[in-house]
Amino acid sequence: MSDLFLTQIEQSAWTQLSESSRDPQAAFRYLTLCSVDGKSRPQARTVVLREVDTDARLLEFHTDIRSPKWQELTANPNASVLGYCPVTRIQLRLQGEVELFGHGTELANSAWDALSYWTRTTYMGGPPGDEKALGTPEDVPAPNSVSEAEGQKVFGVVRFKAQSLDWFQLKQQDNKRALFDYAPSGALTERCLINP
Ligand SMILES: Cc1cc2nc3c(=O)[nH]c(=O)nc-3n(C[C@H](O)[C@H](O)[C@H](O)COP(=O)(O)O)c2cc1C
Repeated sequence: MSDLFLTQIEQSAWTQLSESSRDPQAAFRYLTLCSVDGKSRPQARTVVLREVDTDARLLEFHTDIRSPKWQELTANPNASVLGYCPVTRIQLRLQGEVELFGHGTELANSAWDALSYWTRTTYMGGPPGDEKALGTPEDVPAPNSVSEAEGQKVFGVVRFKAQSLDWFQLKQQDNKRALFDYAPSGALTERCLINP
């Protein structure tokens, strides 16, 4: 297996991630973001991939800063991101660190400005994880009790910087796996095939 093969799969992985940030139907649009909580327990959840900077190896996600994940990532920025494409049967497992951008930061402001009104309403309810009163199935959703400005205050951007990519393709009797490491600049520093 040649160096060219490794170069191609690594580039293709980032191309697919980048496409997925623009296309809601794409394979890696919904990723699993894993953090570590205050009791050292792994915590995983699905998030929408919003932006990708291929050169810098950055992935961006949006969330509510009142959520447990924001608190966990504030205390411990180590994170991993997992995606799987059932068509190509490729798994991407990225490890890295996050940087958090809350209310008043340029990144959170510009990301908020680009959201539709309906997406903004996601941030106009009560704190994520708090108990909600039970309703009947006929209940229509209550009008949002807070303004868009209040929603913006709890909106945050999680910027994940990949330090490594573990690439795996499931193929009958020919599973393939490769590891890639990145420098803080995003430059590829190591690449190798490993046993699946
Ligand atoms: C398809 C799908 C997409 C989701 N996208 C996001 C997202 O982009 N950001 C987010 O904070 N939560 C998103 N969620 C909800 C999270 O998976 C999670 O349940 C919630 O954010 C609470 O996570 P936490 O308690 O670990 O903070 C999504 C859930 C689903 C099912």
